[in-house]
Amino acid sequence: MRSVGVIGAGQMGAGIAQVSAAAGYHVYLSDLDLEKAEAGKAGISKALDRLVAKEKMSRNEADTLLSRIEPVANYEPMADAGLIIEAATEREEIKRKIFESVGKILGHQAVLASNTSSIPITRLSQASPDPTRFIGVHFFNPVPVMGLIEVIRGLATSDGTVKVIETYGAALGKQMVYANDAPGFIVNRVLMPMINEACFALGEGVASIRDIDTACQLGLNHPMGPLTLADFIGLDTCLEITNVLLTSTGDPKFRPAPILQKYVEAGWFGRKVKRGFYDYSGEIPVPTR
Ligand code: CAA
Repeated sequence: MRSVGVIGAGQMGAGIAQVSAAAGYHVYLSDLDLEKAEAGKAGISKALDRLVAKEKMSRNEADTLLSRIEPVANYEPMADAGLIIEAATEREEIKRKIFESVGKILGHQAVLASNTSSIPITRLSQASPDPTRFIGVHFFNPVPVMGLIEVIRGLATSDGTVKVIETYGAALGKQMVYANDAPGFIVNRVLMPMINEACFALGEGVASIRDIDTACQLGLNHPMGPLTLADFIGLDTCLEITNVLLTSTGDPKFRPAPILQKYVEAGWFGRKVKRGFYDYSGEIPVPTR
């Protein structure tokens, strides 16, 4: 396999494009329009500049990597890609539309994958032309830094499709874990209840935002506290995944904390809007409560 298609040039899609190009694949990067795809590539270019400045990468390596990323206006150029990964907005109807369109140009041997963090793979595969060649590949943010890919088989996914992902994941230098097509797979099944519990603790006045984060960061040796991490992931995303866990299992232990719902209702989605549990408008994040 020489080329990979990436659909969605946001934070996840751009990260996937970057690590794929670093592994030597030619990458077709698409988004709603060419301008957005090009903006995704420009973001990768900036990230590479930082690596060059820190002497983690030579200018030559960075230029070679960038030259492998081709922003495209539509899916047609992806017809020769051995693997197409969808990393678009986490909304089922958007993803289904993408699979229907891209399915028209998907090569006869090619694999179609979704980076969904919470939508069942078997259900999504129904919008693809061939569910045997459909699979979940769940990356983590920031993609260039995080070493893991969760691999999720749908009911019909073939062994050959899993092999394609294993070869690809190994080329990227990522560790792969295999999860069944169960709500939240592995990481979010464990992570979202932790974040949600931190929100309950905050709402019940157990401790301040800062102290909850410091306690977990230093007491558990996590790189960031749960409320900082929630802001990093996006509070809307955390709420959405928690709701998926609740509705698909019916287990009340997954009910979202009222304070998480409140912040989302306020539009305080976290870092991407500069306000969540912390205010990011200044140089140092300041707790909002
Ligand atoms: N792209 C590339 N490199 C990045 C980066 C990015 N966006 N962000 C940070 N880095 C690199 C830095 O260059 C730095 O590299 P060196 O050590 O080689 O210099 C390294 O990562 C550490 O970065 P910083 O010093 O700037 O900051 P930090 O030490 O605070 O680390 C962090 C930042 C890597 C984000 C760290 O805090 C962390 O690992 N946090 C937890 C992240 C996490 O849990 N992600 C998973 C979220 S869940 C998810 O994604 C799935 C889902 O479905 C919701």
